[in-house]
Amino acid sequence: MPKAKNTNLNKAGINKEDEFYTKITDIERELRYYKHYFKDKTVFCNCDDPETSNFWKYFELQFEELGLKKLVSTHFDPEKPTYKLELMRDIDGDGKITKKDIIKTPLQQNGDFRSPECIEILKEADIIVTNPPFSLYTEYVKQLMDYNKKFVIIGRETVATNKYIFPLIKDGKIWTGYNNGDMEFVVPSYYEPRETRYREENGIKYRSLGNALWLTNLDIPKRHEDYKVYKAYREEDYLKFDYYDAIFVAKLTDIPCDYDGVMGVPITILHHHNPEQFEIVGLLAGNIRGLAGIPSKIDKDGPYVNGKMKFGRILIRNKRLAK
Ligand SMILES: C[S@@+](CC[C@H](N)C(=O)[O-])C[C@H]1O[C@@H](n2cnc3c(N)ncnc32)[C@H](O)[C@@H]1O
Repeated sequence: MPKAKNTNLNKAGINKEDEFYTKITDIERELRYYKHYFKDKTVFCNCDDPETSNFWKYFELQFEELGLKKLVSTHFDPEKPTYKLELMRDIDGDGKITKKDIIKTPLQQNGDFRSPECIEILKEADIIVTNPPFSLYTEYVKQLMDYNKKFVIIGRETVATNKYIFPLIKDGKIWTGYNNGDMEFVVPSYYEPRETRYREENGIKYRSLGNALWLTNLDIPKRHEDYKVYKAYREEDYLKFDYYDAIFVAKLTDIPCDYDGVMGVPITILHHHNPEQFEIVGLLAGNIRGLAGIPSKIDKDGPYVNGKMKFGRILIRNKRLAK
């Protein structure tokens, strides 16, 4: 478990909402599906205090089993230069690659994933795996895309519908991993519970952040499996959006199997999306404009049905029914 970071409390530049740490069980549960990708590869965890991060710990413990070439992690401190840890070969000659083979090197800069020094490490890396700071999520993903990197990262579900990330998902450049949904994270000891989805066990504080999801651009079998749809379409069962030629689908299980028009479905469809089955047409969400992908009848936006704003909906079309 990561140690509590009381020392960070008073530091300038630390956003307390960014301080939540991924459990090793959740990391294991997801990364088991990507194991074959790591052989002979350099993995970079660039938002991970390597002394406490479970991402570092996972790769350190699995180094040989995965056949990694190199593991690198940089430590971030908003106020001062930090260091990086690297693991790549059996330095002490005991025949195994373990903790004892870690090399610690000071950095000139502060370990910010955007710093030139960290970008140089990024360029050398093959796969980036981490839970990046929520407050910088878009910038973080943009950097990975700009440097054309493969990645597996976790974040809050809400990031999937932001103006930069949603188009990447829509265009099939990135997609969700396996274990999406309600997930709890370790929070620092200074965290004061303000909500019910909080618990404490053996002195460690845990907090759910609502739905989380994994985002990746490594191909996974799940992405080629259909979401099973059974319901036959009957006009009287579905409302229509006020401004769009699209039906309103309240729950995923209500997605009709035989409707060939545009359907506004819950955002959790992204957990099950197979681009061979559905085309993602666009997004209707109250706080975001201009992503619908189909024309608005009166130039107004938003997921309105009978004058009432609904939760955000992803607009999809069944590709198998395309004429
Ligand atoms: C959501 S936490 C996750 C930490 C770790 N990856 C994990 O999953 O346990 C994000 C971490 O990124 C660090 N961070 C914030 N801004 C950063 C930056 N600009 N560059 C690198 N790391 C940053 C935060 O201090 C925080 O520890």
